[in-house]
Order: sequence, then C-alpha cells, then structure tokens
Amino acid sequence: MAATRRRVAIIGSTGSIGRQTLDVIRWLPERFEVVGLAAGGYSDAFRAQLEEFRPALAAVGRTEDLALPASVLSGTRGLVEVATSPEVDIVVIAAAGRAGLVPTLEAVSASKTVALANKESLVMAGQLVTEAARLSGAQILPLDSEHSALWQCLRGEGQLEQWLSTVRSVILTASGGALRDLDPSELEMVTATQVLAHPTWQMGRKVTVDSATLMNKGLEIIEAQWLFGLPLERIKVLLHRESIVHSLVEFVDGSVKAQLGQADMRIPIQYALSYPERLAGMSEPLDLAKVGSLTFGELDLDRYPCLRLALEAARKGLSYPAVLSSANEVAVELFLAGELPFAAIPCLVDELLSRHQAVPIESLQTVLQVDEWARSESLAHARKWRNR
Ligand SMILES: NC(=O)c1ccc[n+]([C@@H]2O[C@H](COP(=O)([O-])OP(=O)(O)OC[C@H]3O[C@@H](n4cnc5c(N)ncnc54)[C@H](OP(=O)(O)O)[C@@H]3O)[C@@H](O)[C@H]2O)c1
Repeated sequence: MAATRRRVAIIGSTGSIGRQTLDVIRWLPERFEVVGLAAGGYSDAFRAQLEEFRPALAAVGRTEDLALPASVLSGTRGLVEVATSPEVDIVVIAAAGRAGLVPTLEAVSASKTVALANKESLVMAGQLVTEAARLSGAQILPLDSEHSALWQCLRGEGQLEQWLSTVRSVILTASGGALRDLDPSELEMVTATQVLAHPTWQMGRKVTVDSATLMNKGLEIIEAQWLFGLPLERIKVLLHRESIVHSLVEFVDGSVKAQLGQADMRIPIQYALSYPERLAGMSEPLDLAKVGSLTFGELDLDRYPCLRLALEAARKGLSYPAVLSSANEVAVELFLAGELPFAAIPCLVDELLSRHQAVPIESLQTVLQVDEWARSESLAHARKWRNR
C-alpha cells in the first residue's frame, strides 16, 4: 500500500534550510507535499515558490510589505496560522533568530510535529517550548546536523531516564568556522566577506557569522540541553575541521557512537521529515577513503569569547540565554551592516549580560520583554560605542 503523503509547512522557506527542505520534497514528491510556506518578505524568490508549490497557506513575517495579495497572510499571526493549521502534519521551523520563536511555541502547543532548525527559540525559551511539548504531546525533531547526529546515535538507547545512567557525555563537533586559521591579532580587522566564507557549510548569513565566533556552538549546547535533557557538564565540544563526524555520544561502558555523513543539510532534513523511516537520499555517498583522515582537537575558549559567554549564560540559566541570543542577533546584524567590528560582537554581548537583571522565563510575554530590552539596550550601547 502506498504511504500517505506527509503535509509539510515551512516557516522560512526562502532561506538556506527552507530551500534545502524544498529540495528534499522535490526529491520525494510521493512522500511529501507542501501545504504551507512562509518567509520574511514577499520577495521574487518567495513568489516563485508559491507559483511552483501552490500551497494552501502562505504568509510573510515582515509587516512592511504592503502590496500583498489577499491570499498571503502577514505578521506573526500569519506565521502562526501557517504553522498550526489543521492541514499541516509537520512544520519545519527554518526562520533565523527571534522570528522562529512564536511559530515554534505555537506549533508545539498545537500538537504539531516540529522539525526544528531554529535553535534560537530553544535558547530563548527552552523551558516554555519543552513544557508545551510535554503538555500537548508534540514531537520536536532536531534538524541541526549535530543534534540530528545525537538523536540518531541515541535511537535505540531508551529515553532520558536511561540516558542519565548510560550516557557519559554527548560531544558536539565544531568546524571552527571561517576564521579558524587566523591569528587572533587579525580578528579586529576581518570583513563580512571573510566571515561569510565558511570552509565546510553553505548557510544563511547569521549562522555563518555565529560559526566564526563559535556563538553557534554555544547556542547549540543550550539547544542540546533542552532537546536531550542532559546536564550541561555532560555536553562537550570537539574541534573537527572536516565536518564529516556530525556529533558523538559516549556511553558509560566506554563505547562511543558517532554519526558521519557529507556536510549536506539535506541529510538531517530528510531524516526528520521521514522519521522513523529512512528513505534513499539524494546526496553523494560518503567516501571515507577519499576523505583520507579525520582530525579532532580541543577548542580554545580564549580564542572564542562568545563560546565562553554562552557557557556562562547556560550555567546561570533564567533569562540570561535569551539575552545572549538577542544581543548576539543585534551585534551580528550590525556587523553585517558594517556598523560594528567583528571583535566587538562578544564585547556587546558581554556588556548586555552583565547589565541584565535576570528573571525566570515563565511566559512568552516575559521572553518578549527580555528580548525587547536586550535589543534596545544593544542598539543604544552600540551607538555609544561607535561615537566614542
Ligand atoms: N543553514 C544551515 O545550514 C543551518 C544549519 C543548522 C541550523 N540552522 C539554523 O536554521 C535557522 C535558519 O538558518 P538559515 O541558514 O536557513 O537562515 P537564512 O538563510 O538566513 O534564512 C532565514 C529564513 O527566515 C526568513 N525570515 C526572516 N525574517 C522572518 C520573519 N520575520 N518571519 C518569517 N520568516 C523570516 C527568511 O525570509 P526572507 O528571505 O524573506 O528574509 C528566510 O526564509 C537558523 O536558526 C540557523 O541557526 C541553519
């Protein structure tokens, strides 16, 4: 009997993850169908997607797009309508940064299966999202390559209760980003073009900058805490320049499981869409003989202050991770706009974390208030910093 087609909605369909999700759907049209698409703006790229897939639901998140046809919803409410529609079986949250937060929380609350690429929503509101999933029974499936790797290694190893006694550590691999071979003294002067030339992955602009500062790895550590429920001290990071081993799980008996594959996001995307099945994929088989050797090393926290700040925020909990994420998002935007030097990204985040009066994250409203505070303070601080 033919399998029924899963009905997919994508929030952030024009970005790197969104476009690769559509590649997977084009590859397996008998298994998946697009029923909802949402992007930031009503761009040519988005219009072309609507033309090709003709989804029942469409929305844009940015409300300044005035010339929208009546069939295209707008604003956060529009995104939420797409993400929670009864037409949707699985929603891919592929928007970058804060834009993913409300659609993730609402989709999980509406019992949708959520394939989550947007790590910021778990960093900002992990407790709310995971509690909403517990209450609604929604599944959150990781799309990030490292978390998909951990998920695949942990499959067949029971649940959290067992992991607490069987998993010694989970190990996230890190490529080191575009600046990994630069002398620290050269970091002050690096340009956005240098930072955006990632050695192993083709990704959106924010996550590529976050990879160069290693903030990305810090955000991923916090994401792993919420996805797998393990204490922070059991989540480790390992420098692995080739991006072939996507992450590892070390068990108490000394066994280590790793997941390997090409640096191709279509693999973890397809795994989440087809889970629990594995279907033939479209990417090149991994030829380890051709790869030759795989290297591993320690990460130097002095070289990557953003990673140190993320670990501190994770340790302190409360609203610190939300401030970390929001201040970083502003700092990265300013850097990409040529308004802040690269080396000032961790300084801005550090300043905001030290000024913050932390509160427990009890509701979406609290997160949004913390986010607004962090954004306006970051902008004000960056302005002062520029005028010095
Ligand atoms: N790219 C990767 O390989 C990768 C790997 C692992 C995890 N991730 C994570 O996945 C997420 C997406 O990354 P990406 O690299 O795909 O980002 P990206 O290429 O920058 O794409 C971002 C997407 O979000 C949309 N968007 C922006 N503002 C929005 C808003 N207000 N409402 C709705 N949609 C909005 C953009 O639409 P417009 O085009 O209209 O602006 C675009 O479709 C990030 O959290 C990232 O950390 C990415």
